[in-house]
Amino acid sequence: MLELACARAWPPLVCRPLGQWQLRASDGFTGRANSALALGDPGVPMKQALEAVCEFAHSHRVDALVQAVYGSEIEAALAAAGWVPHVHYPAGHEVSVLLGPLPEITASASGPECVVLDAPTEAWWELVVGRGEPTPAQRHVLAAPGAGFGLAVLDGTTVGAVRVAAACSVLHIGRLEVVPEYRRRGFAAALLGAAGDWARERELTAGVLQVSVHNHAAMALYARLGFTEHHRYRYWRPK
Ligand SMILES: CC(C)(COP(=O)(O)OP(=O)(O)OC[C@H]1O[C@@H](n2cnc3c(N)ncnc32)[C@H](O)[C@@H]1OP(=O)(O)O)[C@@H](O)C(=O)NCCC(=O)NCCS
Repeated sequence: MLELACARAWPPLVCRPLGQWQLRASDGFTGRANSALALGDPGVPMKQALEAVCEFAHSHRVDALVQAVYGSEIEAALAAAGWVPHVHYPAGHEVSVLLGPLPEITASASGPECVVLDAPTEAWWELVVGRGEPTPAQRHVLAAPGAGFGLAVLDGTTVGAVRVAAACSVLHIGRLEVVPEYRRRGFAAALLGAAGDWARERELTAGVLQVSVHNHAAMALYARLGFTEHHRYRYWRPK
């Protein structure tokens, strides 16, 4: 399933199985790496599963959070157990998982030079996590073996960055960022074109990404590149 492929592309610092669920913690870096991925059967009754989620979160000093597919039976069970959608989750509690064709290179004489490196540079970290030296959790999640680190460089200045990974046979795109004063100049599209080439070299067949439904700029960009919604997920918390 696509959600499992995305999870593999985003490895948390700590991951413990609970039946088919995955309990994840990464010092609070990203919801995906700090929530229980509730897919399939947790192997115990719901009440017990949610207690295990809370205990695990507490022992790893993160908030208790469940990631569940929108409209699924698990969401109904969460609601019945008194959990609620975490509508105040800062990065957006409702996320659209988009699937689309591998982006093509966009040729432009005045555009940035776009490359995908095998290792992150200080400038890449700066743009992607806001500091040249990442925390151990950030390094673990983002610089997982096999990941690629896309950079857009214009006249010696890094103006864009993206993190790519192979998620089974699909290109996983994450942490796309263009420096604010360089936006709306086609740089994100150019960077994604380089990511598409990286994926074609690895015989990946499509692109997948997770974006908050409230991120209108990113949604517009991906729609223009031919991405469409595959499903949504939401973060839930105890009431
Ligand atoms: C989303 C983001 C990466 C777009 O970067 P960008 O370099 O401005 O995007 P591009 O110039 O390549 O945009 C290509 C097309 O996407 C669409 N688009 C991009 N930004 C848009 C916006 N703010 N509003 C509406 N459409 C937008 C347009 O169709 C645009 O083409 P056009 O300018 O000819 O109309 C940038 O806004 C950003 O860094 N945002 C903060 C981080 C973020 O949200 N990342 C995505 C996480 S999933």
